[in-house]
Amino acid sequence: MKILGIETSCDETAVSLIDADGDFGVASTELKAKAGTDFKFRILGDALLSQTLTHEKFGGVVPNLAKREHGKNLVPMLAKCLNEAKMLHPGTTEFDAHEMKEMLVREPELFAQLSEFLQKYKKPEIDCIAVTVGPGLEPALWVGINFARALCKAWSAGRRIPVVAVNHMEGHIAMSAMNCDLEAKTGRLAEFEFPALALLISGGHTELVLCREPPSPIASASQRWMKYEVIGATRDDAVGEAFDKVARLLELPYPGGPHISRLAEEARKKNIKASFSLPRPMVHEDTFDFSFSGLKTAVLRIVETNSPLTDEKKSMIAREFEDTAADVLVAKTLRALDTHGARTVIVGGGVSANKHIRLRLAEALNEVGVELLVPPPQLATDNALMIALAGYFHARNGDFADQGTLCANGNLSL
Ligand code: KG4
Ligand code: ZN
Repeated sequence: MKILGIETSCDETAVSLIDADGDFGVASTELKAKAGTDFKFRILGDALLSQTLTHEKFGGVVPNLAKREHGKNLVPMLAKCLNEAKMLHPGTTEFDAHEMKEMLVREPELFAQLSEFLQKYKKPEIDCIAVTVGPGLEPALWVGINFARALCKAWSAGRRIPVVAVNHMEGHIAMSAMNCDLEAKTGRLAEFEFPALALLISGGHTELVLCREPPSPIASASQRWMKYEVIGATRDDAVGEAFDKVARLLELPYPGGPHISRLAEEARKKNIKASFSLPRPMVHEDTFDFSFSGLKTAVLRIVETNSPLTDEKKSMIAREFEDTAADVLVAKTLRALDTHGARTVIVGGGVSANKHIRLRLAEALNEVGVELLVPPPQLATDNALMIALAGYFHARNGDFADQGTLCANGNLSL
């Protein structure tokens, strides 16, 4: 099945095309179900444009700017993706311009670009479109949804192209649950036992989620691939948000995660240690919830007392902050494993690109004999491959969305 993924939930405009085959392949062993076996995919095309430079001067993502940029960038990303897949064939796609104009009434630039695109290129041989419907910034999500609907309409002459509504967080889980060979552009589902524990760490989320066997067939109303139970979540800031806010305090660019990580690594290399220690919020509390806003406030106080900030001081603070974030994530994950007995931890979301956090989790899980699944670092942050992957499992089960009622939900939960 050739499935096109579209992602516009935040500040990345991404389009990806995979050819996927097989199923989740749950095989019950004596006591536990095992995932894995025959699902595999090939990446045919993958295009992504980050809006970092647009939002950088505002110190964070501005929803209406993100919406505008998605409108500008979706067609070029689609063309790039299809070109890589060798599926961009000159010709014409017949479409009802009046109807499309209505569908894209809020995105006039997207309408103009898509009309031109359809007049220039034939319909590609794809089977299905998967689009992120939430969680995320609603104005941004709507652009992707309207684009998916317009494409479906235009490409459905002759054979209907169905749409799958994808939960962005499920996309992160799907991505991390794969074993990828990025050079060969192939991947397959890792084998793991249920229940697995997912640690989702991104700019908008910090969650511990129990993943159980997928219901078969997937209930269409639930829009779920596996069965999820959120057992812990942040009570205030997400961990990625804390990285970004601390980066701003240290006068580092947005998004701050990679910059904090680079400075922290420098501090470790130079053996620069902190002369203070930051609080580990809620680490000893008997809950799987997180809290990161106090940590940011504590960093603010340290910054104020250490002003003016030298490069060395910045590295020292970055290191202590990263160590603290890692301590909290490791402690809560171990606590959840203790209670729920999962044998696999699936870590996903932009913060899972962080080398130090990966290392700390790997060490801790190795000690307790639990397997760790992480995405390739370059696919930890938002991308459309993860949306195509999660979308596939729904499509395979016939869990398609009604195009007329497809809707963005900024707070969609797992
Ligand atoms: O998943 P993602 O791309 O977008 C959301 O769904 O939110 O995550 C973005 C977040 C940002 O907060 C960014 O600073 C953080 O991931 N991030 C990192 C690293 N790379 C990205 N945080 C820590 N270390 C990194 N290397
Ligand atoms: Zn994300």
